[in-house]
Amino acid sequence: MSLKEILPGRLGFGTAPLGNMFRAIPDEDARATVEAAWDQGVRYYDTAPFYGAGLAEERLGRVLSAKPRDSYVLSTKVGRVILDEPETDVPDFGEKGGLFEHGNPHKVLHEWTADATERSIEGSLRRMGVDRFDIVWVHDIAQDFHGDAWLQKFEEARTGAFRVLSRLRDEGVIRAWGLGVNRTEPIETTLALDEPKPDGFLLAGRYTLLDHEHALQRLLPLAREQDVDMVVGGPYSSGVLAGGTHFEYRQAPPEITERVGRLKAFADQHGVSIKAAALQFSLTHPATAAVIPGATRPSRIAEDVAALNETVPAAFWTDLRAAGLVSPAAPLPDGA
Ligand SMILES: NC(=O)c1ccc[n+]([C@@H]2O[C@H](COP(=O)([O-])OP(=O)(O)OC[C@H]3O[C@@H](n4cnc5c(N)ncnc54)[C@H](OP(=O)(O)O)[C@@H]3O)[C@@H](O)[C@H]2O)c1
Repeated sequence: MSLKEILPGRLGFGTAPLGNMFRAIPDEDARATVEAAWDQGVRYYDTAPFYGAGLAEERLGRVLSAKPRDSYVLSTKVGRVILDEPETDVPDFGEKGGLFEHGNPHKVLHEWTADATERSIEGSLRRMGVDRFDIVWVHDIAQDFHGDAWLQKFEEARTGAFRVLSRLRDEGVIRAWGLGVNRTEPIETTLALDEPKPDGFLLAGRYTLLDHEHALQRLLPLAREQDVDMVVGGPYSSGVLAGGTHFEYRQAPPEITERVGRLKAFADQHGVSIKAAALQFSLTHPATAAVIPGATRPSRIAEDVAALNETVPAAFWTDLRAAGLVSPAAPLPDGA
């Protein structure tokens, strides 16, 4: 089934920040943020065991397990099994080192085999207190976590997680599966396989207002050809587009801050909120099924909903294109 058929709307909620990404968030703030998303009508939630070694799943589960299970769509990920024993080493997450240092103190096993996939899903169900997931993404089999060894992890997943998830989908245990990654290449490699065929992808950070050129060259045309949809993760490029300071989950470098400043200047000139520009840009590509911004404060959710509904003048988009701030290949809202 395509993602567009499964997802209940174009705005979902991503819970990576609720795993204490970057900083420790009080439980009450986490709960209030999820409650705000629910109250604003958001009915698609994405999580993962990796987000704070189970913390984001626990926090999301505390709210969602009290709601009727048929009234929302839920995705989690596989590739990290959370163990009961405490972490004793400093985890090495490659270029994403230290991302979840404030999360649960559990040891995390990084494994994409069939056995680990089954154990991972069991752990996620238990932590969340739900009886099923709608979508399961194979998490982070990409260069940002594994460098040149990513193809080995991809192969482990292809012969492990991919087969388990295909079977679970065919048996009706889950409704869809795919990859959840921050890079385009693993998705392109998956689309080139004859079998197994995933139902869609979670592409994070690579189809945003700030960073989209590479995805437009190969991945998105291929996705259109094969009629597969994407959920756009990290639509604010991990925060910098929305007024935060992170890009790619680290302090934004000066060239990114400068580019955001230029985007923001055009937004101000046209009276457009930068969040509206960001979300509406990502949603305009025909391969995008939904965007899933993350947040740790309830007030962000109202901003996201307002951003989705804001009217953005066509002249804003044509100005961005003329200034070289959006790719000539990017579809723009209202055919601008
Ligand atoms: N490999 C994968 O599968 C993968 C990778 C990345 C992301 N994802 C998914 O995509 C979701 C979204 O990505 P993300 O949460 O990493 O990044 P994001 O949605 O691009 O940005 C979220 C950040 O923006 C900040 N923000 C929002 N409004 C703001 C404002 N008005 N002023 C300042 N800051 C503002 C939030 O800050 P506050 O915390 O202060 O609210 C939050 O930290 C994730 O949660 C996850 O579900 C998946």
